[in-house]
Amino acid sequence: MSVLPETQRAWIVERRGLPSKALRLRSDWEVPSKLKEGQVLVKVQAAALNPVGYKLMKILPNFAHSGRPLPAEQDLAGVIVDGNGTHFSAGDQVFGFIPVELSQATRQGSLAQYVRMPADHLVLRPPSVSPIEAAGITLVSETAYEGLIDIGKIEAGQTVLINGGSSAVGAYAIQIAKAKGAKVVATASAKNETFVRKMGADEFIDYTKTPLHEYLAANPPSPKFHIILDAVALIDPSLYTYSPAYLAPNGIFITTGPMPKDTSGSELWKTVKTVFAAYLRPTWLGGTKRKYKIFMVKHRKSRLDDIQKMVSDGLIVPPVDSVYEFDDALKAYDRQMSARATGKIIIKVDPNVS
Ligand SMILES: NC(=O)c1ccc[n+]([C@@H]2O[C@H](COP(=O)([O-])OP(=O)(O)OC[C@H]3O[C@@H](n4cnc5c(N)ncnc54)[C@H](OP(=O)(O)O)[C@@H]3O)[C@@H](O)[C@H]2O)c1
Repeated sequence: MSVLPETQRAWIVERRGLPSKALRLRSDWEVPSKLKEGQVLVKVQAAALNPVGYKLMKILPNFAHSGRPLPAEQDLAGVIVDGNGTHFSAGDQVFGFIPVELSQATRQGSLAQYVRMPADHLVLRPPSVSPIEAAGITLVSETAYEGLIDIGKIEAGQTVLINGGSSAVGAYAIQIAKAKGAKVVATASAKNETFVRKMGADEFIDYTKTPLHEYLAANPPSPKFHIILDAVALIDPSLYTYSPAYLAPNGIFITTGPMPKDTSGSELWKTVKTVFAAYLRPTWLGGTKRKYKIFMVKHRKSRLDDIQKMVSDGLIVPPVDSVYEFDDALKAYDRQMSARATGKIIIKVDPNVS
């Protein structure tokens, strides 16, 4: 193993606020050492942003966030520096992610040159995808997979609605649903129809024209949807509360949210109303007669192995929205916070990566 530097460059989350206030680019961050059993050391080539990164910065004060200061972000592609007796060897090209709780507990994040993390959160990168493409695969593909396959139990021949087909979660969800033989209807604004169809959607709905629940109630699919996956994390319960008009009686509404954008009173109130209308309200109090499931992605090794195989087999093509230099991370966060990306926002950690 070549001699490692003692310090590294890393974008460190130091305090609550927008990324421009919360983050500081430091050159004196210690390179992780002392690997525990099952951990490896990775030299990061590229990292990807996820909305959870800036949302936690904006929402959580330091006393509620045990890990700070710590390097930002979850997703990465890189090269194994020390396999530490695991199934990886130095030089292996990998991708994976450090879930939020693990990141806080171990004070590791992917916007750093070196990361110490469990080997079972990584898989070998198929040669058909570049490190830039691979960096953004894991968190959103595991989310889409958990929603559709583990929770939704998707089956060939079913019809599913992916709300937010051009979001990163949505783009992976479309591809996973198609790989499982389902028919996919996806929403986005008109400018993203081509992108959503390229991901594999059979039908497209422009959600900006008519409120989506009204459009679907007037034009229900036949048969009705088996699964609705809300990949936008809506803080508006309407798509669920009106769903008996377009979701089959034994169907399920699955959502990655509702997630407030900040701690303003109006955002929190909308979130509380959504959770009450959709989740807590019993049917005898007028609650909707359809199954509803909110979930937070949890890593599972077997799931990531399956995703790696789907990427290898060409069933999943990782969509990249944009690529930024390491020093331009704040510009990348501006793009993420616009909520207009189609695919993943990638930051080069190694300037020479492609
Ligand atoms: N629960 C979990 O474990 C989990 C995991 C991952 C992500 N999430 C959450 O899931 C959401 C999506 O994450 P992401 O990384 O996929 O986001 P993203 O890629 O940043 O989403 C951007 C996309 O969302 C689309 N969009 C925005 N509002 C929409 C609407 N009302 N209807 C349809 N499309 C809309 C935009 O398309 P247009 O420009 O066409 O509007 C844009 O292409 C976020 O809120 C995130 O926090 C939760």
